[in-house]
Amino acid sequence: MHKGLFIVDFTQEAEDFLMLDKFAKVVSRSKADLTYRQLPHYSRSYVDFSSNNYLGLSQQPEVIEAGIAAARRYGAGATGSRLLSGNYELFEEFEAQIARDKGTDAALIFNCGFQANSGVIECLTDKHTLVIFDMLNHASMYQGVFASGAKLKRFQHLDYTHLEDILKDAVREYKDILVVSDTVFGMDGDIADIQTLIGISEEYGAILYLDEAHATGLYGKGGYGLTKNFDFDKEKVIIMGTFSKAIGSSGAYVACSGLIKDFLIQKCKSFIYSTALSPFCIGAAQKAWEMLPSLNSIRQNIMRRAEKIRSALGGGGSKTNIVPILFKTTEEMMLKKQILEANGIIVSGIRPPTSPTPRLRIAVNATHTDDDIEKLIGVLA
Ligand SMILES: Cc1ncc(COP(=O)(O)O)c(C=O)c1O
Repeated sequence: MHKGLFIVDFTQEAEDFLMLDKFAKVVSRSKADLTYRQLPHYSRSYVDFSSNNYLGLSQQPEVIEAGIAAARRYGAGATGSRLLSGNYELFEEFEAQIARDKGTDAALIFNCGFQANSGVIECLTDKHTLVIFDMLNHASMYQGVFASGAKLKRFQHLDYTHLEDILKDAVREYKDILVVSDTVFGMDGDIADIQTLIGISEEYGAILYLDEAHATGLYGKGGYGLTKNFDFDKEKVIIMGTFSKAIGSSGAYVACSGLIKDFLIQKCKSFIYSTALSPFCIGAAQKAWEMLPSLNSIRQNIMRRAEKIRSALGGGGSKTNIVPILFKTTEEMMLKKQILEANGIIVSGIRPPTSPTPRLRIAVNATHTDDDIEKLIGVLA
């Protein structure tokens, strides 16, 4: 069977019943061990520390208006994949802006971050490639490696000596090596050492793939991501980021060389076989992107407030607006989450397997006031 096709054989009814049985067991087990996932229903009156709308741009009138203007001009949906009817000039104009602001030669827009990471990593690697991962990388990147069948080795989180040890051995066996890391880790709020990642990857002839999902909008010069602060080899570094977090819209970009962009357009299945992002999302994301350099004081306030939470409550290795409060057990964490909710505060409760240690993930955003921070600290202290 072709590895890209997931064929269900409906002639094997007995097998199907076994499958359903298996699904039911997984669901009931997750209820028993408190990992059962439920869609939340929150009213707007809560103070929300769970949202990734870090700069508040999803509610920004200029951003919404730009989305509406794009929808009026191009339609509610893109009507086809970029390679068919869905390639509006808006995409190409925005891609040129992204490439300029990220310091790369080209950029390609995807429908969401998960689709970009899983599709691009799948496309760039095969069973002859070694992919070396920070072990806390996002699930979407793992998905790309599993889909391509590349060999995966993981280094301890932020441990670049471990990365180098793996590379020293790997260069004897592998010609194609991809080193992959988030720049800001979304569950821990800590930051990769980008200079070291660039240096080590260069030294061992590896391609470096960086995910700026949580850095885009908040960090680096002009808010254009942490890689903006470093020189890198434009042929050998690929930078992914999303419009779904601080940018306040939906979608993602891959900033890369002209060759990689061209290759992705030829071969990346998640790009080729999917209807392009809606004009509303692109119009809104482009406006938010253009606003980023003017938002320094908002970024400073967010960082000051996150620092205040860290001083009062800890927060592990967090250095960003994402502050995790770790718990020994899921029960303890869920109890605290309920107490916060009773006090009108929403915080994401993250459990294994999403994160190895149960935690409340506090994400400070532009809509918070000093009073909100005091209240949160008061309940958690
Ligand atoms: C580091 C990281 N990369 C990628 C994604 C996926 O992005 P999207 O939500 O746009 O699919 C996420 C989302 O949670 C993320 O945290």
